[in-house]
Amino acid sequence: MIFVKSEEEIDLMREPNRIVRDCLGFVEKNIAAGMTTGDVDALVYSFIKDNGAEPSCLGYCGYPASACISVNDTVVHGIPGDRVIEEGDIVSVDLCAYKNGFHGDGARTFRIGKVSAERDKLVRVTEECFFKGIEGLKAGAPLYDIGYRVQRHAEANGFSVIRAYTGHGIGREMHEDPSVPNFGRRGTGVRLPSGCVICVEPMIACGTWRVKVLPDGWTAVTQDGKSAAHYENTVVVREDGVEILTL
Ligand code: MF3
Ligand code: CO
Repeated sequence: MIFVKSEEEIDLMREPNRIVRDCLGFVEKNIAAGMTTGDVDALVYSFIKDNGAEPSCLGYCGYPASACISVNDTVVHGIPGDRVIEEGDIVSVDLCAYKNGFHGDGARTFRIGKVSAERDKLVRVTEECFFKGIEGLKAGAPLYDIGYRVQRHAEANGFSVIRAYTGHGIGREMHEDPSVPNFGRRGTGVRLPSGCVICVEPMIACGTWRVKVLPDGWTAVTQDGKSAAHYENTVVVREDGVEILTL
């Protein structure tokens, strides 16, 4: 069931989402070659705590960290640890904060120093896919129009859309209905109601869209070892358009 949030509830969601936005900005300023992914996770943990929120990911289904940190061929759910971030890497940081009884969720992919032309384009196109996805989005729009537009933009640029993971509704729970795929047929799916809050999060790969999950049970990598990127915002659907809570 898709929950419709009242204006009061949306107001309560602003703060956790602002913290997600600011935390991603803080990571962007501080992330650098030579740090480990665990170092980045520690920054995320303390930033969220210092802002009076809880890192929603920590302990979620047994997940052991505050952020998902996914380097190069890791698509999503990379577990932070002692991997050293290197010049030329692309690093996706996905994090959630819980405050006021609600969750906020966002992700960015950061370029570390000078990256290859292919990785540079991938990061740019993945971000563009988010904005294509929400183009024209407003109450009454068919859900799969989002994925249709994401997929069209990704594939027009020679990239592929990850199928195994999707965006989602968000609110009092980190994952609510509906599931928001990054692919689909135009004009299909439920009509999104005004006041629903969803995470639109393109995950785009240079090569195959097929992934495998490593034995840790979380880390999803591309089967061909080529790079992937991720970009996510929490979005309110309104009568006349959308309001992005994490920008
Ligand atoms: N932010 C992620 C999402 O969009 C949450 C990852 S689940 C976790 O679904 F357990 F890894 F935290
Ligand atoms: Co999400």
